[in-house]
Amino acid sequence: MKALITVASKHGSTVEVARAIAGQIAQHGIETVLLAPEKITTLEGFDAVVVGSGIYSNKVLPAMAAFCYRWGEQLPARPVYMFCSGPLDSSAAAAGQSPYEARHLGKRIGARSVKLFGGCMELSGLRPVERALMRMSGVKAGDYRDWDGVRRWADWVADDLLAWRSPDR
Ligand SMILES: Cc1cc2nc3c(=O)[nH]c(=O)nc-3n(C[C@H](O)[C@H](O)[C@H](O)COP(=O)(O)O)c2cc1C
Repeated sequence: MKALITVASKHGSTVEVARAIAGQIAQHGIETVLLAPEKITTLEGFDAVVVGSGIYSNKVLPAMAAFCYRWGEQLPARPVYMFCSGPLDSSAAAAGQSPYEARHLGKRIGARSVKLFGGCMELSGLRPVERALMRMSGVKAGDYRDWDGVRRWADWVADDLLAWRSPDR
């Protein structure tokens, strides 16, 4: 069984989450392939897809939205899982909901879960305009990624996928 993990990321922290997810899913004996959304030319050969994005101004990144629209008809033929990484506080761990746009896209591609994880942002990596935006929205830089939560979700994805593939389903 082979799963595609694809994420849109501006500053790299969502890619690190995707790597952790890929590694954890692989522990269940599922082959994982991590590819940028714009590099994907076919979904053939993938039994499942995990799609993720960093959140900016309450929206997913354009590369993730474009991926969902481009592959929207083919994606529901296989189990699809979505995650967002965003909040720079502990609100995601407290059962925070992904932004409306992500939930809408998730519905469109038949995602079996649209999970929200805490994000990560260091001021040093930001352009002045992004720093100003952060200040205006009152968020503080820091690393709020919940690695145990990320691995738990990846375990759930792997279990769900294996159950979906099981002959007695
Ligand atoms: C300018 C700016 C706007 C942001 N807007 C949001 C937002 O609306 N909601 C949210 O949950 N996180 C927001 N974040 C936090 C990012 O989603 C978070 O840092 C995420 O981990 C970034 O992912 P990336 O490193 O993969 O690009 C914002 C960050 C910046 C710098």
